[in-house]
Amino acid sequence: MSLTEHPPPSPGPGPQADGDDAAEQLRERISADSLTTRRDYLRIVATVSGGLAVGGIGVAAGILHRHGDSETLPEPRLVTDQLAPGRSAAFRFPGDEDRALAVRLTDGSLVGYSAVCTHLACAVLWREDRGADGELYCPCHEGVFDARTGEVTAGPPPRPLPRIFLTERADGSVWAIATARSGESAREALCRQFGDSRPAVTRQLECPGANGGARTERGRT
Ligand code: FES
Repeated sequence: MSLTEHPPPSPGPGPQADGDDAAEQLRERISADSLTTRRDYLRIVATVSGGLAVGGIGVAAGILHRHGDSETLPEPRLVTDQLAPGRSAAFRFPGDEDRALAVRLTDGSLVGYSAVCTHLACAVLWREDRGADGELYCPCHEGVFDARTGEVTAGPPPRPLPRIFLTERADGSVWAIATARSGESAREALCRQFGDSRPAVTRQLECPGANGGARTERGRT
């Protein structure tokens, strides 16, 4: 099912329906074995979420909330109505305190990365004029992240920026629908967040323990 066939989640289907749509969209995309965008298809993209309203010391110590810690899929959230090539959009996801950044690269790909540096939680900025894809830059200690992958390319940040999975709908609006932890693959992130709640999806993703989920599902019918 194409994303174009889905109405915006609000007003409309409730959070559960949105979660089901998001799960199906992500499953389809991962089944295609790609998270890069395709111009002839509405896109699921990796972006970043995770701004924290807390200090970097707590983040570095792992004692405070970090982006992607949720074990369940967050409720989809509108990022922006439109995002032109070479432009970025700041938003909050999955929580109201979680700062995030979506970027439309010059080739049309949508990417995004946490607006919270993985070093000491300073704000990460988008710099369009740095190379073909631009870069994500942390001014506190000259940290630099690859705009297409979120990987660290310079400076002291110890980990890639966490990602958010996005969809772009037929009207051009961009929605955040799921998150990943720093360095976590899309499959790992979805298996973790779907857990036992979507056994059919976890089987298709071949998540660890998915067969157990299948047995549980059959046992209920
Ligand atoms: Fe970003 Fe130090 S806080 S490089």
